[in-house]
Amino acid sequence: MSDRVTGHYRIVRWQEEDVRAFVPNSLPPQAPRLHLDDEAKTLVAQATAALEKLAIAGDMVPDANWFLYGFARKEALVSSQIEGTQATLQDVLALEAGATLSNPRQAREVCNYIKAIEYARDEIARPNGLPISRQLLCEAHRRLMPDEDNKQPGEIRRSQNWIGGTRPGNAHFVPPPPDELTEALSSLERYIHATDDLPALVRAGLAHVQFETIHPFLDGNGRIGRLLITLLVEHWGLLRGPLLYVSVPFKQQQAEYYARLDGVRLRGDWEGWIKFFLRCVTSAAQDAVAAAQRLFRLTSGDLAKITAAPDATVSAVRLMQLLPRHPVITPTSVRQLLGASKPTVTKAIDFLCRQSVLRQIGSARRNRSYVYSSYMEILSADAAPGR
Ligand SMILES: Nc1ncnc2c1ncn2[C@@H]1O[C@H](COP(=O)(O)OP(=O)(O)O)[C@@H](O)[C@H]1O
Ligand SMILES: [Mg+2]
Repeated sequence: MSDRVTGHYRIVRWQEEDVRAFVPNSLPPQAPRLHLDDEAKTLVAQATAALEKLAIAGDMVPDANWFLYGFARKEALVSSQIEGTQATLQDVLALEAGATLSNPRQAREVCNYIKAIEYARDEIARPNGLPISRQLLCEAHRRLMPDEDNKQPGEIRRSQNWIGGTRPGNAHFVPPPPDELTEALSSLERYIHATDDLPALVRAGLAHVQFETIHPFLDGNGRIGRLLITLLVEHWGLLRGPLLYVSVPFKQQQAEYYARLDGVRLRGDWEGWIKFFLRCVTSAAQDAVAAAQRLFRLTSGDLAKITAAPDATVSAVRLMQLLPRHPVITPTSVRQLLGASKPTVTKAIDFLCRQSVLRQIGSARRNRSYVYSSYMEILSADAAPGR
């Protein structure tokens, strides 16, 4: 492990107190340059191979959209769980289907994160859309917390923030003062668009830490910084879709995740972070492949079973085909999706309940909602709330 210096401290005044705010050096790591030893090289090779398998799994699914749909929602949820949300995947999907939740606030926040992910992907895919940039991340942030004016949605912070503790003076970490942010983010943006002979995955790992160290927003830095990883992996051509989501391994090893971020700042240990990050990428990619295969087997098996049932209706089969993209439904959402009458929809839902594909959520007599339960079970692996 090298003891390189990764930035400097600037003394800033915060309410009668002098505090040390950390200003990181620009990427890439210097003096010494990042050293990828044999172990790190093996980890790069393993992570790259795992991503290739994931790309193939993504191509195998007939309509990759439903696959992306579920995974993006899971990532939004788990990334928000790192932040502390108690919402479940079922809550999030139910809210999207228009179901009534007793306490929708946290699920709504996750839905906003989904909008931020979708927005950012659309922008970078659009011919004249924004590239991966400070502006893009700000716009994503605006969509993440649209109703929280006190958190300055879409804006780089104008005040000093801190991590841990009750004020900067007793904080665990004090990010750069606000007047350093424009330059720090521009420099990160330049690094992202410059050439560098480090492997792209390694560069994505460096960019994430740099973003977290800059901590440019009043809140939401973790979520936007994890979104940045997904965007970079796609941007640098490692995957053709946003299939890699690292929040599950980060959440499972949250203490190490945070300690590794500290290690970079305090000891210049970029190498230690990179190895941790690559292991997380491999694990996330392998889990995604396994989940995609299980989901694919489940949905094709269920579709075959439903189609073969003697009392199946055309609408029931059509609904079955829609479930991977809409694993939580309400009679109203199904009416809209199928453009069918109420009795037809009721019949289709009842049929899928009898076939144990759908299960009613809760015991409401009105505004009922239903879940494709075996699907939800697979997708929700490692996404239970609470720590
Ligand atoms: N010691 C640390 N050094 C740098 N970044 C950290 C540290 N501890 C946590 N973080 C990052 O800060 C994030 C939390 O910041 P916050 O702005 O509240 O984001 P969010 O609201 O999305 O969780 C964590 O998810 C992590 O990525
Ligand atoms: Mg937060």
